[in-house]
Amino acid sequence: MDNGFSKDSLATYAAGQRERFERTLAELVEIPTVSVEPERKPDMRRGADSAVRLLESMGAKAKLYETPGHPIVYGRFDRGAGLPTITVYNHLDVQPAEGPDWRTSPFEFVRQGDRYFGRGTTDDKGPAITALFGAKYAFDNGVAANIHFLWEFEEEIGSPHFETTIIDRAKDFATDSVVVSDTVWVSRARPAQPAGLRGLQGLRFELKTGQTDQHSGTAGGAARNPVTEMCQLISECVDGKTGRVKIPGFYTDVVPPTRKELQDLEGCGFTVAGFKKDHLYKTLRVEDALEVMKRIWMMPTFEVHGIAGGYQGPGVKTIIPPKATAIVSCRLVPDMNPKKIVKLVSDFVKSKNPDVKITAEHALPAYQGKTTGPYADAIRSSIKLAFGKEPVFVREGGSIGAVLSMEKVLKVPVFFLGLSLPEHGYHAPNENFDWSQAKGGMAAFASYFQQVAAMGSAGGKALPAARA
Ligand code: BES
Ligand code: MN
Ligand code: MN
Repeated sequence: MDNGFSKDSLATYAAGQRERFERTLAELVEIPTVSVEPERKPDMRRGADSAVRLLESMGAKAKLYETPGHPIVYGRFDRGAGLPTITVYNHLDVQPAEGPDWRTSPFEFVRQGDRYFGRGTTDDKGPAITALFGAKYAFDNGVAANIHFLWEFEEEIGSPHFETTIIDRAKDFATDSVVVSDTVWVSRARPAQPAGLRGLQGLRFELKTGQTDQHSGTAGGAARNPVTEMCQLISECVDGKTGRVKIPGFYTDVVPPTRKELQDLEGCGFTVAGFKKDHLYKTLRVEDALEVMKRIWMMPTFEVHGIAGGYQGPGVKTIIPPKATAIVSCRLVPDMNPKKIVKLVSDFVKSKNPDVKITAEHALPAYQGKTTGPYADAIRSSIKLAFGKEPVFVREGGSIGAVLSMEKVLKVPVFFLGLSLPEHGYHAPNENFDWSQAKGGMAAFASYFQQVAAMGSAGGKALPAARA
């Protein structure tokens, strides 16, 4: 590659930045930016302020945008008008982190050798600052592009104010392309170039059949039990053993994978043994690798995240509870429509148990990405340069609300350069990131910026590339 950065100079830069990288990640991880918890509002603000200071300390200009919810932080390394602008998207909010399974305190940054523990290390604070360090190298070494950072603080709650904010400030956020770093590789040995994301429809089921606890010896037998009814309802919606959704019409709009996509799966390096190890499972619903991959990346689901109601303490307290709640979501694939799914599920639930109240929560359609064209080629070659391996095309099973909004509002192509690994434990206890992904990631990003700059502003105009 002409004028490209050499692998050696990138490795030297990364090594020299390691201490600063760790200090920076520690500072971000130690601010508990849990977007779903209302009492964290001051921490969300502290997190956003700290992100602004971080961007400024790296030599970028930075601005905080208010939204009706949590802020958005925007940073820019500006070289000049007429040059291509590349926007990097990450989110700096995190999932809640309680529970007994954490070996270290979740909001304390703990380094053990090359591993970094703490909530948000891999989802998505580590990748965010990795990209930032890569950008600083590219910018300081004369790359002819403007590099911008779009950092959201509401991704983990479905990005409720993202789209309206970028519509209102469309001029500020104008760009030629977006690269998102918030996805997972197949394994450490197999980088992934995501060809799509699943969508998501969140739902709450609530059932109230009484006013207070009642003695099950005096009322039991005649009284309705909301927990039992909720369990029956759930099992009418989905087969618990196989996962098959039993709601009529649920699968009607599902687009099956193409032959090319199935071929890509065959060579992608996924193994069931590795999957079980990374996610700490001893048994699964199915054991065939192709079947597991189809299920986690290409098929919709109906999942119960939590079911609550009744007595949870020691011994057996013999009461009949008055209410039950189930928190549910459906992962969606192309061409499923979130609104249609809400209607299907609501109508079905009403027909089975008219007393259950349904509330729809975040609604995100699935996303189909582009895997061809100059940007996709630049992603591939930057990963190859940095990690010595070509990425494989797979769809990702998770969802990122901002992606569709950026494509729609900014009217530019969106690509993925993710750095997380399955064993990093997305949303799990003992979430971690590691130096080898950070070091390689800095190099990959620097190289990507350099290659997109070399495409010139015409590179952007030649697009949008055909969808895969
Ligand atoms: N980084 C994930 C999305 C993701 C997960 C990409 C797995 C690839 C593989 C993101 O932070 C996330 O967790 N999104 C939520 C969104 C939801 C709460 C609206 C998700 O997918 O559950
Ligand atoms: Mn994420
Ligand atoms: Mn997440």
